[in-house]
Amino acid sequence: MALSDTQLVVLSAACQRPDRSVYPLTTKLPGGAAAKVLGSLLKQNLIKEVQAKREDTVWREDKKRGRLTLRAMPAASKALGIDEASTEGEAETAANTEAKPARSGKSGKSKPKPRGTRADSKQAKLIEMLNVLLADELTAISQYMVHSEMCANWGYEHLHKKIEARAIQEMKHAEKLISRIIFLEGTPRVDRLNKINIGPDVPTQLANDLEAEHVAWKAYNDAIHLAGEVGDAPTRNMLEGTARDEDAHIDWLEEQQDQIKQIGVELYLSNQTKE
Ligand SMILES: [Fe+2]
Ligand SMILES: [Fe+2]
Repeated sequence: MALSDTQLVVLSAACQRPDRSVYPLTTKLPGGAAAKVLGSLLKQNLIKEVQAKREDTVWREDKKRGRLTLRAMPAASKALGIDEASTEGEAETAANTEAKPARSGKSGKSKPKPRGTRADSKQAKLIEMLNVLLADELTAISQYMVHSEMCANWGYEHLHKKIEARAIQEMKHAEKLISRIIFLEGTPRVDRLNKINIGPDVPTQLANDLEAEHVAWKAYNDAIHLAGEVGDAPTRNMLEGTARDEDAHIDWLEEQQDQIKQIGVELYLSNQTKE
């Protein structure tokens, strides 16, 4: 079944909680959008209505069953590609909650089952990998910004605009990584930078930028593989989208190098003076 990005985010968050609660929703959904997304997940039996405890967010009130909240079902883990062995116990706990009436009295509290250490260490590895990518992006922003301003100073207005736009796109990539790391309850490391390689002329700048893009492209592919292993589909989708951008960046840089080879650096640069 095809799940939207929003549905994947909602399910992924629920599957990571010890009680598999769908609430709180970690993605902002305007107006009736939340009801639509959750209604569709209910129809697909990926989440289920269960009696709400006092601290739970109420999904709806039923005349016979009272206040109801939502929990992720085992099928949700399957849909996300999460290893069933590490979540089975939790899934059963959630399913059983639905079957039994709400317990009364103070002794009714059940202790959340500890999460598997194997899954946790992979999750930590994924957060660290996202921080490695963040360092690549922050380095790229600085390198592109300096190259862009050097081109402006030389009067290569076309290159200046193009490279400036590239720096802004890398900033958007960094923003997505920071947002994802925070969602996964990690700490975004914005204090790490790789070596910044500033070229003294345009051909060297293009070569240095291409080298950095190849490094980023490989790191994104490694991270996509790891997100797949962890079963984190929303992170994998996000990384795949950015990897496609990096692919296009490599393409553009190689095109510039081809043009320089074919028409010579003087003619190439004289074409860059107009916006
Ligand atoms: Fe990037
Ligand atoms: Fe890039």
